[in-house]
Amino acid sequence: MVYLGADHGGFLLKEAIKAHLEEQGIAVTDCGTYSEESVDYPLIAKETCQRILADEGSLGILCCGTGIGISMSANKVKGIRAACCSDYFSAKYTRLHNNANVLCMGGRVIGPGAACELVDVFLNTEFEGGRHQRRVDQITAIENEQ
Ligand code: RB5
Repeated sequence: MVYLGADHGGFLLKEAIKAHLEEQGIAVTDCGTYSEESVDYPLIAKETCQRILADEGSLGILCCGTGIGISMSANKVKGIRAACCSDYFSAKYTRLHNNANVLCMGGRVIGPGAACELVDVFLNTEFEGGRHQRRVDQITAIENEQ
């Protein structure tokens, strides 16, 4: 399952990603928002991330205007490693090296064609583990110290 969430700034991008995934037969859960009416991205991030964590091994895609506010919010949820990306290399390596479980993008930054390419590589790349596991464990340790 892929969980999708967006504020009004990322709504159209989320809709394009949703259609792209559904065309491939990938199951998605749309956690909102459902229009271009203004909403607060931290609330969407929290709701979407809680649903991701409740479904072990699942991944999420979050969009706002820049991808930044919604990624900051997502990273406040314990267990979430959200990466704000607008290039293919970062979207791939944040899975390989950071074991990111959420990809964030900006609807005012990246077009739907490029965004869908980032989504595809993000969803189809596995964490490498090895030395990267130690570093991800250190991220978790920082989180647990707070
Ligand atoms: C909303 O106008 C905008 O601030 C939001 O979508 C996002 O870009 C925040 O980081």
